[in-house]
Amino acid sequence: MLEINLCGKKLKSPLILASGTLGENKENLIECLKYNAGAVATRTLRVNSACRELFRPAYYFGDNFMLNADNQNITPWTYWLENNKDVERYGPLIISLSARNPDDCKTIVSAFEKKCPPSFYELNFSCPHSAKIYGEIPYKDVEKSLGLIKKETKRAVFLKLSLNNVNIKQLKKLESKKLVDAFVLSNSIGPGLKIDVEKKKPVLGSTVGGMSGPAIKPLVLAKIYELRQQIKKPIIGVGGIANAKDVLEYIILGCEAVQIYTTVHLRGPKVFEEINQDLKNFLIEKKESLSSIRGSLII
Ligand SMILES: Cc1cc2nc3c(=O)[nH]c(=O)nc-3n(C[C@H](O)[C@H](O)[C@H](O)COP(=O)(O)O)c2cc1C
Repeated sequence: MLEINLCGKKLKSPLILASGTLGENKENLIECLKYNAGAVATRTLRVNSACRELFRPAYYFGDNFMLNADNQNITPWTYWLENNKDVERYGPLIISLSARNPDDCKTIVSAFEKKCPPSFYELNFSCPHSAKIYGEIPYKDVEKSLGLIKKETKRAVFLKLSLNNVNIKQLKKLESKKLVDAFVLSNSIGPGLKIDVEKKKPVLGSTVGGMSGPAIKPLVLAKIYELRQQIKKPIIGVGGIANAKDVLEYIILGCEAVQIYTTVHLRGPKVFEEINQDLKNFLIEKKESLSSIRGSLII
């Protein structure tokens, strides 16, 4: 009942684990798939991640949002060359790449294609905080990265955006050049700042950080509403999903699938099963299906 077809691949649910700290090891990803996540993403991989500085504290949890300064890769990218098959045994894996260095994308994708290709690739050019450097990646690097990836693979390639860098004209250009198979919106947004009033200091070691969780959902929905009218390729909605009704909002808006991170980080992989069950109950009660509600928004 929840099965979808995403870029030619069958997923047993439209709920996908978004890229994040949980995607540093295969055990977490397998756990999510056992609880019937439709697919799972690795942490964004980089060829040289050892030099990245870790800011502490790296997380702040507010009532309805999370701030993070967590931009380290603990696991080397080559770990996934050895372990992606184990994950794919349970369900589709998305290898997340960074557009910050197009040559890294080529290196990583070419190695996976030779050894054990994953179901999907996702190019992340969106992290709006990246600790102190605010992730400003130019569209020309994105186009270059996508071109290099597409030369190496026939697998579907997603482009992950954030609210900060949606440029409809540029996205239409990438779409018309057949460089993207689906768009993912949004990465964490911001940067955001939280101050400890007792200490008169920022709570994060990096001063500002990426904001995620329920508070960002209305902003993401509004941007997808705008994007949906201009873009033909599937859109995967991500931002602030904590329950089945949140998922339904994205699907009614026209999203093909959704990704979830903060809620899984806080409540564990079991939330996939809970949300799947609530989604099924809703669809049965309303005598609807995912395809009958997809894009059914009435204005
Ligand atoms: C701790 C943390 C780490 C993250 N790391 C990544 C990452 O490596 N790559 C990426 O594309 N997005 C990363 N994200 C962003 C999430 O994938 C997601 O786009 C964002 O958190 C919004 O969704 P949510 O509200 O469901 O968390 C991270 C988010 C958090 C909170």
